[in-house]
Amino acid sequence: MWNKVQETVKFLKDKGISAPDFGIVLGTGLGNLSEEIQAVVRIPYEDIPNFPVSTVKGHHGELIYGEFGGKMVLAMRGRFHYYEGYDIKQVVFPIRVMKYLGVEKLIVSNASGGVNPKFKVGDIMLIDDHVNMIPEHPLRGANDERFGPRFLDMHEPYDLEMISRMEKIAKEMNISLQKGTYLALQGPTFETPAEYKMVKLMGADTVGMSTVPEVIVAKHMGMKCFGLSVITDLGIEGMVEEVSHKEVQKVAKIAEKTIGRLVKQFIISFEP
Ligand code: HPA
Repeated sequence: MWNKVQETVKFLKDKGISAPDFGIVLGTGLGNLSEEIQAVVRIPYEDIPNFPVSTVKGHHGELIYGEFGGKMVLAMRGRFHYYEGYDIKQVVFPIRVMKYLGVEKLIVSNASGGVNPKFKVGDIMLIDDHVNMIPEHPLRGANDERFGPRFLDMHEPYDLEMISRMEKIAKEMNISLQKGTYLALQGPTFETPAEYKMVKLMGADTVGMSTVPEVIVAKHMGMKCFGLSVITDLGIEGMVEEVSHKEVQKVAKIAEKTIGRLVKQFIISFEP
């Protein structure tokens, strides 16, 4: 794994990617945020050595390096999901690569189903904790100490300073945000009413099919993580309705502009 990561890092450095200030993972329906990035380098995943190739319609696979909010960012337009059939180490491979390109701060976004009765469709949630229910753990197996420790502390999975920074920015922009725990299931089915109930009983506010493995390996390598989730549907007892990928994308797309504005101000707020 180490050698593969270094090989991909060298390929990307040779393409002109150097020391991005932020890594950004753009989830379902949020990919167009990348249009706001003044791209210097754009590379489809299929052209990057050792990268998996995305299989889901609507999940565009492209790595974008460019200027956004006065900083250099490295954005993944489209991510890899466990349900697509990759093993979990492939899913998190790009995060490993980001670290060795120089990324120290990771911003992740996703779409999720809300199980907190205070949530509405279209709400944006700051992720302040997570529950990992994806059956394969990205750190299972022999540990390579060059990446990070065998037994990883997870007492602060999402950086508290970044969360309060965003809360302040959202307040100034008059945008209200939710805050809560994201639980990852493997999918690809959306949840049954009983499963949404289980998610709530497990202490989470939303449920989705991504993000958590990426955050685990980012933490493994000492990166700071920050996450936003768009609530695209609700799994609240007694009101569980039909949900489709199309609907999820539609709602995420509406929230996209707001997320773009928030993330831009967030990035601007850091010292150059
Ligand atoms: N469940 C799982 N994943 C999701 C959902 C959901 O309700 N909405 C968007 N992604």
